[in-house]
Amino acid sequence: MPPLGIAAILLFFIAYATVRIFMAKWYFVPEHNYLTPLYSPCVAENCVPGSSHFGTWLPALPFFIPLGIIAFPIVAGFRVTCYYYRKSGYRSLWASPQACAVKEPHTKYTGETRFPLIFMNAHRYFWYLAFAVLLINFYDAALGFKGTDGGFGIGLGTVIIWVNVLALAGYTLSCHVCRHITGGRLKHFSKHPLRYKFWTFVSKLNAKHGTYAMTSLFTVILTDAYIMAVSAGWFSDLRFIN
Ligand code: FES
Repeated sequence: MPPLGIAAILLFFIAYATVRIFMAKWYFVPEHNYLTPLYSPCVAENCVPGSSHFGTWLPALPFFIPLGIIAFPIVAGFRVTCYYYRKSGYRSLWASPQACAVKEPHTKYTGETRFPLIFMNAHRYFWYLAFAVLLINFYDAALGFKGTDGGFGIGLGTVIIWVNVLALAGYTLSCHVCRHITGGRLKHFSKHPLRYKFWTFVSKLNAKHGTYAMTSLFTVILTDAYIMAVSAGWFSDLRFIN
């Protein structure tokens, strides 16, 4: 039952994200600068006015290329090659290996030494790109403190965006790659006290990597769905300040 549950969640997320990235509307709320993470950064000429926080340096994109084309392949590649999702995906979708001592449909097991699974080893490179996307998400979130009169303000959207960006930070910083970057290949921790501090912090997060992986999946969907609803006018943003 657990692999089935995980498979259902992963397939739901893939279906939701696919529909949303090709929708090309309802991804930005100009009054409060809310931009969904699925479209950030929006750098094409046909992005709605105000949503291009990093300028427009791509021409207008045809309907079959998502407006979030810069970050989406990075985020998707980072998640697909993540060790946690690999475990879930291999057990619930790929069926190889399914679990210890469980007979599987594949006759031969080659692990990640052959095409296509050899690409899983690119995870360490995806981390650097995903970290850059995370910084972009933080920038977007900071812009989300825009009040109705254009000054400072906080709404339910701001809170949801910040919960999401913190969950994404937890997911990215708890990655095994980050743990290796901060403390890997050191012979003496005593000679690198700062890296040891980072490594200790990341190691604590790392123990909860699976939780961050799943939580951030849902916070991304929640953030996108909320921004879609406000942008489409289904309901208005609940304001706490201004
Ligand atoms: Fe999951 Fe790196 S191991 S994001």
